[in-house]
Amino acid sequence: MAVSIVLTNQKGGVGKTTTSGAIAAGLSKKGKKVLSVDLDPQGNLGFSLGMNIEDGHTMYEVLKKEIPVREAIRTSDEYGDVLTSNILLSEAEMILKGENRQLILKQVLKEVGDDYDYIIIDTPPSLNILTVSGYAAADYLIIPMAAEILSLVGLVQLKETIEAVQNSVNPGLQVLGILLTRYSQRTNLARDVQDMAKTVAFQIGTEIFDAKIRTGVSVAEAPAHGISILDYSPRSNPSKDYREFIDELLHKIKNQA
Ligand SMILES: Nc1ncnc2c1ncn2[C@@H]1O[C@H](COP(=O)(O)OP(=O)(O)OP(=O)(O)O)[C@@H](O)[C@H]1O
Ligand SMILES: [Mg+2]
Repeated sequence: MAVSIVLTNQKGGVGKTTTSGAIAAGLSKKGKKVLSVDLDPQGNLGFSLGMNIEDGHTMYEVLKKEIPVREAIRTSDEYGDVLTSNILLSEAEMILKGENRQLILKQVLKEVGDDYDYIIIDTPPSLNILTVSGYAAADYLIIPMAAEILSLVGLVQLKETIEAVQNSVNPGLQVLGILLTRYSQRTNLARDVQDMAKTVAFQIGTEIFDAKIRTGVSVAEAPAHGISILDYSPRSNPSKDYREFIDELLHKIKNQA
């Protein structure tokens, strides 16, 4: 059964999708079998992995149970398999129905769990049924936060949502840590950011990953080319940092399993 990891933060633009894509690419490069699941109606993860998100089957049809999940899985050139989304998924509140609505995604992914080593789930910038479905389906949760806009706002809701899922549909969900992104030693007065990050981690009851993802222009350029930052600019600071982060991530998972 695959190890599944969900990336979450209801704040927009903090690096959820960039990190999801980097993990998918990095693990694929290590020879792992990876399924990337885009739960965001913005469709950015599928797009950044080089998929055409307007044509073909998407998570909308899968969650609506119109088609079997295997029919919607597409294979990217270099980054494993992908379940894409597009704007149709903004109707999630309507299509995920019934008492067990939070568990529909988990059931769907279970059908293909044996085909993969890792399932990476990217979520939208909100705490809605899609986010909660992602938490319900995951073994591990990672919270990317942009160092430049680090704040305590919204942390209580995030923590409560995680705990609500742990206390109901997914007691095994483990928060692996907070990943600082868009980190710049120059502009983020290092000490302030460290202190703030520690406070944030304490509030959520978790820790900060040692690896921090530095800012780099290539991160913004790579998605439009449909290739990972790890290939687009392998020597850039963010690429080096993401490789370090992935090793740390695997180490943490190994120690927690
Ligand atoms: N390390 C980085 N250096 C420079 N730019 C970055 C970095 N990480 C992310 N960005 C940029 O910040 C923006 C937001 O990143 P991303 O899309 O990964 O965030 P997100 O949390 O998924 O956003 P959303 O909440 O809208 O889904 C993008 O334009 C991305 O290119
Ligand atoms: Mg995103």
